[in-house]
Amino acid sequence: MTNLAAALAPSAAATTDAPPPFRIGSEAHKRAFCGVLLDIFDPYKPSILAWPKLSPDAEKRLTGLPFWDVAVETEGHASSRMQAMADTVTDPLIKEAIALNAFEEGRHKLVIRNMLRFYGIPLKEEKSYGAPRDAEWKFICTGYGECFDSFFAFGLFKMAKDSGYFPPELVDVFEPVVQEEARHIMFFVNWVAYCAANKPLLSRLWFRARCLAALAMAGLGRLSLAGAADGGKSDDNFVVSGGEALTVGLTPRRLVEIALAEDTRRMARFNPHLLRPKIMPFLGWMALKVLPKN
Ligand SMILES: [Fe+2]
Ligand SMILES: [Fe+2]
Repeated sequence: MTNLAAALAPSAAATTDAPPPFRIGSEAHKRAFCGVLLDIFDPYKPSILAWPKLSPDAEKRLTGLPFWDVAVETEGHASSRMQAMADTVTDPLIKEAIALNAFEEGRHKLVIRNMLRFYGIPLKEEKSYGAPRDAEWKFICTGYGECFDSFFAFGLFKMAKDSGYFPPELVDVFEPVVQEEARHIMFFVNWVAYCAANKPLLSRLWFRARCLAALAMAGLGRLSLAGAADGGKSDDNFVVSGGEALTVGLTPRRLVEIALAEDTRRMARFNPHLLRPKIMPFLGWMALKVLPKN
């Protein structure tokens, strides 16, 4: 079976060529989660994306969104941190996959920059991102941060599409970007499990402790951002500030419901034997138990 068959679950699962199960931490596991990046690669070029002409209202809404500088910086940080991690990895397949992840983050940045240029939205000068001293730590922090952000981004994207807040042609341009984030977090949670499974006990405990710390920091960082409502001025997150603009008139419960449904739909595209990001869907289900119904 090819890596592509192993990475793409539903189409394969529907046939007798369904991917066989594997042990977490095995070579087959590694091929499957690296395949999520390497084999399901969309070779689109940001420079040839067709930006639709917007109505004056839609253009005003786009220009008024408060997070464009932060969006560019978030992608820039992610790209440089992932490339730094790829440079330290010795396993050739994982190295190639993380380098591709870095490339895709850089491409997201280009897509946003090109869009801003096309619609005449000013962008402040980008600062230099610099190489992290502890590449693995920053990679883990970025990975968990993406798990949080992607969950809400899936929901916000669906809302922007269904509400007509932006024309469908503009939303369609961003579809590959959003699905790439789904691939990134699938890769990340499986990479964590693969690394942990292949470490001796003490290193495994240390690695898990670092992961837990990074997860807590990413969660607390987003909570404090939401609480502080800092207008998206942080360099680490733009979902919070974007959410405020895109969810006017929507209840928190509806946002969580949509995000959960979108998360399930996007993750269903991958090999059913791969691990899924579970923390945000779990927190989402918990939130539904306490959020008022209207
Ligand atoms: Fe990205
Ligand atoms: Fe990403």
